Amino acid sequence: MKITVVGAGAVGATCADNIARCELAEEVVLLDIKEGLSEGKALDMFQTATLAGFDTKITGSTNNYELTANSDVVVITSGLPRKPGMTREDLIGTNAKIVKGVTENILTYSPEAIIIIVSNPMDTMTYLTLKTSGLPKNKIIGMGGILDSARFKTYLSLALNCPPNDIHGTVVGGHGDTTMIPLTRLATRNGVPVSQFLDDETLQKVAADTMVGGATLTKLIGTSAWYAPGAAVSALVESIIRDQKHIFPCSVALDGEYGQSDICLGVPVVIGRNGWEEIIDYKLNEEEQAAFSKSADAVRSMNNVLDTLEL
Ligand code: LAC
Repeated sequence: MKITVVGAGAVGATCADNIARCELAEEVVLLDIKEGLSEGKALDMFQTATLAGFDTKITGSTNNYELTANSDVVVITSGLPRKPGMTREDLIGTNAKIVKGVTENILTYSPEAIIIIVSNPMDTMTYLTLKTSGLPKNKIIGMGGILDSARFKTYLSLALNCPPNDIHGTVVGGHGDTTMIPLTRLATRNGVPVSQFLDDETLQKVAADTMVGGATLTKLIGTSAWYAPGAAVSALVESIIRDQKHIFPCSVALDGEYGQSDICLGVPVVIGRNGWEEIIDYKLNEEEQAAFSKSADAVRSMNNVLDTLEL
C-alpha cells in the first residue's frame, strides 16, 4: 500500500506522521510546493521509526508528482489554513484553484486512487473534486464530520466527567461553524442517551462549543488545528486500507439521500476498501431534518461561488 499526503503544513505532516506510526502502508509520500519542506519533515519523521517502532517509509517530494505514482489513497490538505477571525468559507478563492490543480496532477499518476479532501471550505472542495475529477463518487471523501464528531464527543465527556471512549456521538451536515449539526438526541454514554445525564442547557452548550470547535482552536493557536484533524484523517485512511467498514460521518455526494441531491454534505457512511460504500439513514426527526436542509442551502450557495471563479 502507498499513501500520499499533499500539503506538508501542520495538518498534512500530522496526517503523514499518524499514518506511518499506525503502519497503514509500506510508503507514505508527503508532497508540498515549498522547496525542501516535505523532504525535511519526511526525513525528520522517518528518523522516529526506530524510536516509535514502525517501518513505514516516509518520502518527501517538492512538487514532483512522479513520486506519488500508484498511490492507493491520497489526502489533499493543500491550500491556506484559517487565521483568527476567518471562516473556512473565506478560503474558497485561493483553495479552489489549488485543490483542482492538485487533483489533476494526482490522477495523472494514480488514476485509481481514493481521494480524501481536507482543504477548506471542505464540502465545496469535495464537490469541486466530484465535478472536475471524473472519479466515481465513492472514491471522493470529504473529511470533516469525523473530526467534528471527535470534538463533540470530547465536549460531552468533559460535561459528563467520563472517559471520551464511553461516548458515541455524530455530527452531520456541513463542516462549517454554522452548518454542522451535532446530533445530541442520538448521542449516548455507553448506549444510554446523554439526555439522561445532562440538562437541555448543558447539551445546547456542548453543541454550540462543538460548532465553533475549530474556530476556538484557531483563536488560541493563531492558525488551524492539526492534532485532531491529523488523527481523524488517519482513522479514515485505516478504515479504507484495512477494509474496517467503520461508520464515520463524511462529506459525500448525495443523490436523494437525506432529501438532497447534487451536493456533497456530511452524512454517516460505511468506509471500506472501495471508499465510501453505503450511506446510513439515521432517520432524522423533523427539527434535525430542517437543520440539515438549511445546512445544505448554505453549502449550495458556497458551491455556486465556484461558477464565478476562473479555475
Ligand atoms: C478544522 C479544520 C481542519 O476544523 O477544518 O480544524
